[in-house]
Amino acid sequence: MSFYKKIRPYIFKLDPERAHTLVEKTLAGVSYAPLIENMLASSFCKYHANLDNEILGMRFYNPIGLAPGFDKNATMVRGLAALGFSHLELGTITHNPQDGNPKPRLFRHVESNSLQNAMGFNNIGTRAVIRNLQKVYPFCIPLGINLGKNKNIALADALTAYELALKATKDYGDYFIFNVSSPNTVGLRNLQDVNFVNELFDMAKSITTKPTFLKIAPDMDLDSMLEVCKSALNASASGLIATNTTIDYSLVSSPKLKDGEPFGGLSGKILKTKSNEVLKELGKAFFKEGIIVSVGGISTASDILERLKNGASLVQILTSIIYEGPGVMKRLNGELSKLLSEEGFSNIKDVIGINVR
Ligand SMILES: Cc1cc2nc3c(=O)[nH]c(=O)nc-3n(C[C@H](O)[C@H](O)[C@H](O)COP(=O)(O)O)c2cc1C
Repeated sequence: MSFYKKIRPYIFKLDPERAHTLVEKTLAGVSYAPLIENMLASSFCKYHANLDNEILGMRFYNPIGLAPGFDKNATMVRGLAALGFSHLELGTITHNPQDGNPKPRLFRHVESNSLQNAMGFNNIGTRAVIRNLQKVYPFCIPLGINLGKNKNIALADALTAYELALKATKDYGDYFIFNVSSPNTVGLRNLQDVNFVNELFDMAKSITTKPTFLKIAPDMDLDSMLEVCKSALNASASGLIATNTTIDYSLVSSPKLKDGEPFGGLSGKILKTKSNEVLKELGKAFFKEGIIVSVGGISTASDILERLKNGASLVQILTSIIYEGPGVMKRLNGELSKLLSEEGFSNIKDVIGINVR
């Protein structure tokens, strides 16, 4: 039994957000303790030559990255890299700092290895995040910066909000993601709109030549999803990230309620099928037109292999770290490397998109 499995019952006695704050303090502390950083890296970061890949000019030594929401303020970059991620997506960051939604806003559904969160882009804002990034950037693995809009900004002014956030952070990340799919900022998902997305990526290309992505929700109808994604790719997006959390509350037996209604977004195992279904559609439609990153309910190496086959070049995880602990990356990468060889693929490049090419 891993050390994390032993201490998990005690961690799970804590309020989930409090537990996260303790983890954040510990991982942030790694930056000031190079010996511990080295110890972590030598135990968790394993190199498997068959997982190494170059995408959009960036080197990914394995396909698994950290999904945004875990390190919203770029405080844990060094500690997280030492756990074996090939890339980190930081944020969501808004131009101005904001507290997010009232607490409690993060809940575990332990019976289904899932989470329900209504965080609402709590973050310290671009200026303070840049100060954290200045300590590490450029970094040894790609850093993605996920951008959102402050909740007090009207939808009509959203484009300017994304523009300000991108201008502020453009020199401190390797790629940028526009998040228009969080369920926890009122109206944000309305920005999953063909015209808005077109304007968004037109604006982006006037500011940076670095890769940019659109992150979408799993709850759109198929036609609108394809139209919105096409609009992003036609404008200048390098790729698509699917998916954010779901608001399909039927997927858990007792969703947490606020004022008698389910609220927030669901992630983890309950999202696995939905996220993979979205990926299959995106893979069929856009595999040759952009890079697809798959996220949602990934917890095994065979989940990852399936996503790669369905057209994802990279995957990300968040909820499975909470349930399995820091060893998850080492296990997933080791098992994936073996699985690839067993299925006769000499390199990860050979398997990406094999079901949709
Ligand atoms: C606590 C929490 C906070 C999150 N915050 C963000 C966020 O700020 N921006 C974002 O794009 N996605 C956010 N997400 C969504 C994740 O990045 C991811 O898309 C989703 O959780 C599905 O992946 P998973 O099943 O591996 O957790 C958050 C998820 C959780 C659980």
